[in-house]
Amino acid sequence: MKRHGVARWGLVPVAAVAGIAWIAPGEASAQPSERNIAAGRRLYHQKADCQSCHGWSGDGVKMDNQAPDGANLRESALDREQLVFVIKCGLPGREMPAFDRLAYTDDRCLGRTRRDLQRMGLRLPEPGATLQNREVERLVDFLLAKVVGQGEMNRARCIDFWGEEVSVCDTLP
Ligand code: HEC
Repeated sequence: MKRHGVARWGLVPVAAVAGIAWIAPGEASAQPSERNIAAGRRLYHQKADCQSCHGWSGDGVKMDNQAPDGANLRESALDREQLVFVIKCGLPGREMPAFDRLAYTDDRCLGRTRRDLQRMGLRLPEPGATLQNREVERLVDFLLAKVVGQGEMNRARCIDFWGEEVSVCDTLP
């Protein structure tokens, strides 16, 4: 099942992923503002273009036919730290790019380097754009508020997702 993408990487026990503290103290507990959520949504659709593989609503129905099949993020069971980790370090061998410019250049991605990945035969696609730590935090604010664990998209969730009534919501039940 797609939701187990991280576990299926196999090299990274989920416990090890969860054990890494990427988040500045205090940040995790702070309730994200509507502004931060909207900023994250723009990053998802525009700069980071997550939607090309994961779909505009994160349901895994990709926008770009040529793109790899992204996971259904609406069914993902990942927590904040795991989401931050996957976005920064990607999922080598699974077509999920790493969005941290310095991923696999130092010890930030479980101590592995690009050479290690090469040696292990794990391909890592290039992201369309890299993201700063702050941008990853906004993206995760958005994902946790509007995508991860939010269930199937419907009209009411669609309007909440966009923050206004947009035409794409009209087609939903
Ligand atoms: C080039 C295509 C592509 C792009 C662009 C992409 N992803 Fe992915 N993503 C994938 C694939 C493929 C998987 C793994 C699917 C699998 O095998 O489980 C994945 C997995 C994930 C997972 C793990 C989900 C889980 O529960 O295991 C998260 C979270 C994720 N992507 C978030 C993002 C975000 C946020 C962005 C934008 C910053 C993004 N992805 C951009 C292809 C992509």
